[in-house]
Amino acid sequence: MSPRRFALSEKVEKGSEKIENIQDLEGVGPVTAGKLTDAGFDSVEALAVAPIRELVDKANLESSAAIKIVKAARQAIQLDFINAKELWEKRQGLLKLTTGTKNIDKLLGGGVETQAITEFVGEFGTGKSQLCMKLSITTQLPHEDGGLEGKVLFIDTEGTFAPQRIHQIAQAMQLEPEKLLEGIFYSRVYNSDHQILAVDRSFKLCQEENIKLLIVDSVLSHFRSEYIGRESLSERQQKLNAHLHKLTRIAQALNLAVVVTNQVQANPQAFFGDPTRPAGGHILAHASTHRIMLRKASGGLRAARVIDSPFLPESETFFQITEKGVEDAVPKTRRED
Ligand SMILES: Nc1ncnc2c1ncn2[C@@H]1O[C@H](COP(=O)(O)OP(=O)(O)O)[C@@H](O)[C@H]1O
Ligand SMILES: [Mg+2]
Repeated sequence: MSPRRFALSEKVEKGSEKIENIQDLEGVGPVTAGKLTDAGFDSVEALAVAPIRELVDKANLESSAAIKIVKAARQAIQLDFINAKELWEKRQGLLKLTTGTKNIDKLLGGGVETQAITEFVGEFGTGKSQLCMKLSITTQLPHEDGGLEGKVLFIDTEGTFAPQRIHQIAQAMQLEPEKLLEGIFYSRVYNSDHQILAVDRSFKLCQEENIKLLIVDSVLSHFRSEYIGRESLSERQQKLNAHLHKLTRIAQALNLAVVVTNQVQANPQAFFGDPTRPAGGHILAHASTHRIMLRKASGGLRAARVIDSPFLPESETFFQITEKGVEDAVPKTRRED
């Protein structure tokens, strides 16, 4: 089946005119439009999926005004109700992106899914950023090669994105490095507020530039270093929750894939098995549709395994980091690990 393009909902003809700009919505004058745009709600689609609280907090609106605007936006794109056939079509529209390794694709049930958040978790040096860079290339490939024929937004919190590495992988794959580099929008963010803002403002870019993969590498590092101590934990989790919900809404509204990376933290409760667990607690666990745990294995290989999945098996598979990015690998003997 050839994947079809998918839009959450087509804009509805209202009389003969379509509502394209937020200014044309009832209740949005030029001043309000300015406030909304500044807060990143710059399209009818973005407003239709916005929580009222966010409009109140970020765009400084009265809640009655915010409710009215969101209602108008939903009406304009007929978001409130869809029938089961439309739901079925939406599922049909779900696309899968190759990681460049058959092993990990299989682990994910065919590849990284659109309309969802996929999380790669692991200690330093396990290949999380390498996977993100590889995906930044595969996203731009044609559908028949496992790509999404779209561009990439790479939000980098640690400064580890390396254009020269993209260049190298592209060359090794016999693709055009310059063209692929042009297809990656890059944002280096310096603190958690900056990170939140970058995502809040990305809706329009994602829509206009046909972004099909949004990466946050890594999603928690700023939050973890800024909110230290028990007393700030609930504030951190609240902000993180809103941030992750935003990512989910973008993924679903625009049928794009979201990939985040995460570190591990010590799990003192583990008497048996893995003494580490993903950072971020239940908030991140709930937000991620698929979680893949990476670890270093013997012979320079990396192992990947699905964790917390309700339906994917918890098997382990192997890959290695090479000139081409990431590739399948077979361990010499499984007992060596
Ligand atoms: N061109 C390359 N060829 C082979 N291995 C590489 C290459 N570039 C980076 N690596 C390896 O990738 C690993 C770092 O992976 P990275 O994705 O940055 O880890 P993290 O999980 O911390 O994001 C290092 O072990 C490094 O040796
Ligand atoms: Mg990294």
